[in-house]
Amino acid sequence: LAAEAPATHRVQDRSIDSTADASAPAGQGGFRNAPDTDPSLPANQAWAAGIRERAKDSRLGVDAVEAATLRDADALETVIETGIAANEGWRSLSGDERAEILHRAGRELEARRGELMEVAASEAGKTLDQSDPEVSEAIDFAHYYAERARDLDRIDGAVAVPSRLIAVTPPWNFPIAIPAGSTLAALASGASVIIKPARATARTGATMVEALWAAGVPKDVLQLVQLGERSLGDQLIGDPRVDRVILTGGFETAQAFRRIRADLNLLAETSGKNAIIVMPSADFDLAARDIVASAFGHAGQKCSAASLAILVGQAGTSKRLHNQIVDGVRSLETGYPWHATSQMGPVVAPAEGKLLDGLTKLGPGESWIVKPEQLDDSGKLWSPGLRAGVQRGSEYHLTEYFGPILGIMRVDTLEEAIALVNEVDYGLTSGIHSLDPDEIGRWLETIQAGNLYVNRGITGAIVQRQPFGGWKRSVVGPTTKAGGPSYLMPLVDWVSAEARE
Ligand code: SER
Repeated sequence: LAAEAPATHRVQDRSIDSTADASAPAGQGGFRNAPDTDPSLPANQAWAAGIRERAKDSRLGVDAVEAATLRDADALETVIETGIAANEGWRSLSGDERAEILHRAGRELEARRGELMEVAASEAGKTLDQSDPEVSEAIDFAHYYAERARDLDRIDGAVAVPSRLIAVTPPWNFPIAIPAGSTLAALASGASVIIKPARATARTGATMVEALWAAGVPKDVLQLVQLGERSLGDQLIGDPRVDRVILTGGFETAQAFRRIRADLNLLAETSGKNAIIVMPSADFDLAARDIVASAFGHAGQKCSAASLAILVGQAGTSKRLHNQIVDGVRSLETGYPWHATSQMGPVVAPAEGKLLDGLTKLGPGESWIVKPEQLDDSGKLWSPGLRAGVQRGSEYHLTEYFGPILGIMRVDTLEEAIALVNEVDYGLTSGIHSLDPDEIGRWLETIQAGNLYVNRGITGAIVQRQPFGGWKRSVVGPTTKAGGPSYLMPLVDWVSAEARE
């Protein structure tokens, strides 16, 4: 593997946290967000070219995934027993001791930035501009939850009793940051973890887990599995020795987990159908840029993605805004991540079902402004789609598609726009572009979504600064936010300090 770019080649361009002590090194009490790689520097461009070259034929993680695949119920039983037995040692560590290991994990993830990006490109088609911030977020989770592990020892009047075993079932669309965040939080809270990365991104998950093992997380405390048979998933979720399950995935998956075990202690972040509202007062240049980036980053395969742009009043009739959005969508070059010019990668599995409908069918009153085209025989490579005339209450208005499609709705007032957003069952991310504080205030008061973004894209929450979690059907279980101060709280049981004595 080519050497990593030295730290001086990176820039702190994703967050300047005015509340943090910028001089404190990350991992020693002061928290700073890890910087993304600066793609404008020649040394970084050479580094990225190497990653793209290797990604095409990458075999990273193959051995780990083969070794981790469980074939029968006995094999899973052994994993569960191992995790529980190993928990005695892990839970007896102090928060400080666990924090040290998690900080090391943050450094290991940074050291493997290129490897993680390579395997995510190879497996999930993630372009490097999308995977680089994901690695930064994973690193942030490590350092941030390390400090929250210390906090757990310092709560007045209450003692945190760790779970013995937490199962983590992350999705394929953020194959680095979400598995890392859920796992690191569970470990920080004192639990043993069984992680089952999504099958489509099993090797990326394995590469992430290897970084945590290298940091000193014992292999019996953090066990990686893939399930060779579907029934083993039911067995894992249904086992009462699994104290908690952290799921990121579809709302239906969360419901299916609950059906397996009615009393399951589930923390699930689920689906979204997210909109950006543009007001006449907005900076249209900024709005168009953020809409296109939020809709088509990672080919729209984000629970946080914008799938609706709601243009209010004069914004809806502005030729300039319209043209900027259309030009932005048309100019996106779709391609595999090993081509340097690709701006939007493939969808992770050949489009079928709902996604294929979204890419090919129109509802009443709708028309294509930019029609999606299938670009090769794989079924995965689709150019982006932009549809006009989306009607209130229509299929497109209310359904999550998880692909490179954006729909435009037009209304006369902010209140109508807010009503369109709030009629959706989900409430994950939501955005407004407006330069009028009164409008922004009215929107903030009434919009129903867990993550609100003003004059910014609506994907890419940043640890500590923008803790991430859903509302309405976008969350099942406690509504704590990943990357926020209280995320570890529902992962433990609380007893009063007096009862403990
Ligand atoms: N945290 C991701 C985002 O903000 C979604 O899971 O885009």
